[in-house]
Amino acid sequence: MILLTGCAGFIGSNFIHTWLAGGNEGVINLDKLTYAGNMDNLTGLQGDSRHQFIRGDIGDRELVTRLLEQYRPRAVINFAAESHVDRSILGPGDFIQTNIVGTFHLLDAVRGYWSQLPDDVTASPSRQNFRFLHVSTDEVYGTLTATDPAFAETNPYLPNSPYAASKAASDHLVRAWHHTYGLPILTTNCSNNYGPYQFPEKLIPLVILNALGGKPLPIYGDGQQVRDWLHVEDHCHAIMRVLESGRVGETYNIGGWNEMPNIEVVKTICGILDGLRPRVDGHRYVEQITYVKDRPGHDRRYAIDARKIQKELNWKPKETFESGIRKTVQWYLDNPEWVAGVTSGAYRQWVVRHYGGQE
Ligand code: NAD
Ligand code: DAU
Repeated sequence: MILLTGCAGFIGSNFIHTWLAGGNEGVINLDKLTYAGNMDNLTGLQGDSRHQFIRGDIGDRELVTRLLEQYRPRAVINFAAESHVDRSILGPGDFIQTNIVGTFHLLDAVRGYWSQLPDDVTASPSRQNFRFLHVSTDEVYGTLTATDPAFAETNPYLPNSPYAASKAASDHLVRAWHHTYGLPILTTNCSNNYGPYQFPEKLIPLVILNALGGKPLPIYGDGQQVRDWLHVEDHCHAIMRVLESGRVGETYNIGGWNEMPNIEVVKTICGILDGLRPRVDGHRYVEQITYVKDRPGHDRRYAIDARKIQKELNWKPKETFESGIRKTVQWYLDNPEWVAGVTSGAYRQWVVRHYGGQE
């Protein structure tokens, strides 16, 4: 059994699907169901005894302790976070609360559980084979110029947004819990993900759905900011590889070797949609592109040097951006019910009816 947090969200839900499809053991999924958590991401798992959903906060130490004692997981993977940069600029409070304070409570509850595990390599779980894997981001390294080398694990932390700063703080806590208490941790720092089940506030799903809805496609500033794009399933496989074979206490950067300026990403999506679902008025989707005010403090370029995970753990991405983005656009076209749910208020009402709490 493993305990996962934040797996009603984008990457976590993809992780559960990938994990269970691979025939692995059951999971407990602790998720607060914020606006970004969506039970529709877990469709197909109702009634599957390998997936146990618990609505709750990683910062609720009593709850986390109870779950650890009840299920005795051999590993915890922390996906839970506030994850959107724009929201962190408008209201950083939730980012501090979940990403820093929440991670602290989770880590400390896990430390209490781990410290009482049998000191016996043959037991499962044991103090030796237990793992805490923290899922983090390349944004902790700050921004690059066009000619800087890609982020390596040895780069200094220079976060620029409240989101990036809160993730950087969480990474530091995780590191400290290893160095001070010996908790067997692993940290992954990944670049921009895309794929199914992504909340349409992030660039790629926003552009697909706005294009189909006849809305503007907002490009911040000059659109020349560069991101490295990785298909979410590649990220999930990388996390699994790190969990099973990563060296305790280490950090692994994960990336797709797919650097692209935002404007090119958006034009690529427009071109795919022109082919798959042409506009009824005969116009092209690029005509919906609208340049808007830039994001404050907008990082210019991210790039990941993923040689360490490739060399040590023999992981590399399977998907190219070309193949991954085409599959992704097709997925959003093929799943109108998911799209309707995620874009309607009815979803929140459903959550409250089933799992309680506030809308
Ligand atoms: P997401 O916003 O789609 O999902 C976050 C999930 O966490 C949601 O289900 C939400 O309900 C849950 N959550 C939030 N606060 C919680 C709390 N206090 N307790 C329990 N659950 C809570 O995020 P995502 O894009 O899936 O990202 C997952 C992780 O991966 C995050 O830690 C993020 O920083 C990291 N990451 C994301 C990307 C990316 O491109 N999306 C890239 C690198 C790293
Ligand atoms: O690098 C990893 C990070 O990638 C993750 O840690 C974050 O959780 C994830 O949200 C993502 O951060 P970004 O800020 O890079 O992603 P976003 O999709 O918000 O934006 C991608 C780029 O597109 C960025 O340069 C801002 C730009 N953008 C974004 C939106 C939403 C636009 O030009 N227009 C938009 O409407």
